[in-house]
Amino acid sequence: MAVNKLEDLRQRKEKIQLGGGKKKIDSQHEKGKLTARERMHLLFDKGTFVEINAFVKHRCTNFEMDKVDAPGEGVITGYGMIDGRLVYAYAQDFTVIGGSLGQMHAQKIVKIQDMALKMGAPIIGINDSGGARIQEGVDALSGYGHIFYRNTISSGVIPQITAIMGPCAGGAVYSPALTDFIFMVDKTSQMFITGPQVIKTVTGEEVSTEALGGAMTHNRTSGVAHFISSTDADCIDEIRKLLSFLPSNNMETPPVFTTEDDINKIIPELDEVIPENSNKPYDMKLIIQQLIDGGDFFEIQPYFATNMITGFARLNGQSVGIIANQPKVLAGCLDIDASDKAGRFIRTCDAFNIPVISLVDVPGFLPGISQEYGGIIRHGAKMLYAYSEATVPKITLILRKAYGGAYIAMCNKELGADIVLAWPTAEIAVMGPEGAANIIFKKEIAEAEDPQTARTEIIQNYKTEFATPYKAAERGYVDDVIEPSATRPRLIDALNMLASKRETRPPKKHGNLPV
Ligand code: HXC
Repeated sequence: MAVNKLEDLRQRKEKIQLGGGKKKIDSQHEKGKLTARERMHLLFDKGTFVEINAFVKHRCTNFEMDKVDAPGEGVITGYGMIDGRLVYAYAQDFTVIGGSLGQMHAQKIVKIQDMALKMGAPIIGINDSGGARIQEGVDALSGYGHIFYRNTISSGVIPQITAIMGPCAGGAVYSPALTDFIFMVDKTSQMFITGPQVIKTVTGEEVSTEALGGAMTHNRTSGVAHFISSTDADCIDEIRKLLSFLPSNNMETPPVFTTEDDINKIIPELDEVIPENSNKPYDMKLIIQQLIDGGDFFEIQPYFATNMITGFARLNGQSVGIIANQPKVLAGCLDIDASDKAGRFIRTCDAFNIPVISLVDVPGFLPGISQEYGGIIRHGAKMLYAYSEATVPKITLILRKAYGGAYIAMCNKELGADIVLAWPTAEIAVMGPEGAANIIFKKEIAEAEDPQTARTEIIQNYKTEFATPYKAAERGYVDDVIEPSATRPRLIDALNMLASKRETRPPKKHGNLPV
């Protein structure tokens, strides 16, 4: 080959590597952001990233766009290895026309989406973009449509993960929203449908970009995002860690790791962990950490609906999804946000063959007009639906309260729990002793010589008689009442026993989840 052709190739590639040029790269760094290329190299195992379609160019001639050179078309696409497994990714390049999305930019993403689906490998999208490329008009909108469609078709087949590392505005937010997990970087990422200026014009409300759609807003208030990181590099580390809990696709099981943690470990502190006074809170996260391998809990949505805990962990090296009530927050009651959070997580676990462990201490659904008006009935139904629909191994452990509808909603036997274990401190009943006494013994209390003493006695009797695990165990609704200290080996044993679980459902187009 003539040397000048090789030289030509190298020069072309070098130019593409520089994206929007040194000035734009410096500006990106000044904002505390990495470039798209730097992000890709950090994401993949060293030296494994292979770029494709770097030479693609836009075809737009509107607004003198034919004079605009856009190296890489504002998005870097390709594949590589993460912990030795094949993963596809794209990263929008803000240094090239603000990472805006035109027809060819979209086609590059779509190609990667199609390949990821065909090959059964996860896809990661790194968003840093001014949105639809205004000059390309409806072609840009068409591009988004193609991406959304593929996000939906791939849902539940391959893990789809999005990182927001810059602006993500307008309808562009819907690709991330259709994926399984959204990461955001604090202070440098924003997501919103309409920005502060439009909001001010339409509703008169004044709000800053950060307060409207910053990382903490979406982690704590809206629940749109699942994770917040302080830098791009931290965010990428977390994405890599998340992938370690997931299989490459819905036909596989997650990777298994060897644990140095004793699988037969007896933890005496757990025998004392539930307070004498059953209205006293405790921190469920401390219990989770003691039960799982190495205390390594990968919490999902740690800032949203904190009365409900969701996250991945390992037991004997095997990925599990943990759903737990948090007695420290709202006494662990189920409310709208907690139901949404748990429902979505259960479906994620089920889609990707990850057994579900539910740790129950729930006094009930949160009472209140705002909950009723907000539709707690349909939101709570999502949780029941998700548990009933899930065919992965389902293990339920009742630590303390399990009252009424919430007892069912946290995956009791009838919702399909394969194994239900309870601690001796479990209280399984239609409602708590105080409420029950007020209703069924109202007359006796009113007619007693000393109503106060009568009430206390009745409550005490109810506690000993009914607020225990034994009525449920007598009926077989609870499979065993166990010593708390032996919980870790019992959970591991149940997981092993359920490893070959196969459960089929009647054929249907799809169910009708109460969305
Ligand atoms: C074309 C764009 C662009 C866009 C940015 N640029 N957004 N070009 N279409 N949507 C260009 C800018 O002209 C500029 O080019 C370069 O990218 C960097 O942008 P700056 O404005 O200089 O950067 P910054 O000050 O950091 O502000 C970033 C920004 C702002 C907040 C994203 O650019 C912005 O508000 N852009 C428009 C956002 C928007 O309204 N997008 C449409 C949303 S609607 P030069 O040549 O000067 O470097 C949407 C619909 C999707 O996306 C629908 C899906 C169904």
